[in-house]
Amino acid sequence: MLTYTPVSEAGGVGKTTTAATLAVSHARAGHDVLAIDMDTQNGSLTYFFGPDYDRGNPKIDNLVRHLVGRPKGNFQNLTHEVEHGVDLIPSHNMLEDLHEFLLNEKNQAEKLGESYSMYHQLHRVLREANVRDHYDVVIVDSAGKAGPILYNALVAVRNVVIPFEATAKGQESIEGLDDLVDGLEENIGVDVGVLAVVPIGYKDTRDQREILADLRNSGFPVPIVIGERGSLMEGSWKQQCSPYTYVEEHRNRKREYELDTLDQFDELARHLERDAGLKTPEVTV
Ligand SMILES: Nc1ncnc2c1ncn2[C@@H]1O[C@H](COP(=O)(O)OP(=O)(O)OP(=O)(O)O)[C@@H](O)[C@H]1O
Ligand SMILES: [Mg+2]
Repeated sequence: MLTYTPVSEAGGVGKTTTAATLAVSHARAGHDVLAIDMDTQNGSLTYFFGPDYDRGNPKIDNLVRHLVGRPKGNFQNLTHEVEHGVDLIPSHNMLEDLHEFLLNEKNQAEKLGESYSMYHQLHRVLREANVRDHYDVVIVDSAGKAGPILYNALVAVRNVVIPFEATAKGQESIEGLDDLVDGLEENIGVDVGVLAVVPIGYKDTRDQREILADLRNSGFPVPIVIGERGSLMEGSWKQQCSPYTYVEEHRNRKREYELDTLDQFDELARHLERDAGLKTPEVTV
């Protein structure tokens, strides 16, 4: 099983866009994909895929209930089928209070003389639901801020894909990447694998070429480099579909560079699948 979460030092670099695009690429290649949205902001995976769902309704079963051991139904019923058969567990407003919920559970467990790990709950939920038997790929997207949501995501998936801003500002953060990963590992007490660093918004200026060379020399895997594709990605967000569907259904005129970008995301998805030892089934598109 291939499992990962996008993380980045800065916000707004492209975590959710990357997660959504890769989820659809894995699914188009014939894999069973579970995407879990743990971000309560509006611009999250749930908004991107737009399932019919009320994240504000406290009565419906949701992931948080499962995380704190008070599910109202089966894990499978948390999922909504979205584009290309991707199963999405949407975000829910109760996630905003996850820390408090987990602390309560921890206090209660300790009073009963039991140990409780606040950051191992997503891992437990996925194990108990035998996710490994049902899915080839699990992607968790969070707001990326350090805290119990990100730590639960990391303990469950153990691997990160790092969208990287390919600007001068980003150059300073090449060294920061090591610190980022070390810091995360320290907080959760498990090793985290960096599956890929993905420069996003790359414009091939002299400065950016230098940054890319530095990044490649740093030893991190850099399987693809994504150009400045604001129009494509904003169109996808607007239409609430992956860039694959956006180009197929909403572009009258195909633009070569956009088709190249889709190929690159496919290349990255195949790279991640191979890394995890997944066999890519017959391509279904
Ligand atoms: N290759 C690209 N070129 C230009 N813009 C892009 C590219 N990829 C994504 N974007 C744009 O960047 C913005 C932020 O993307 P996204 O929401 O995926 O980032 P994020 O890291 O998930 O943000 P947050 O930290 O808020 O969760 C979006 O408007 C998206 O359309
Ligand atoms: Mg996001």
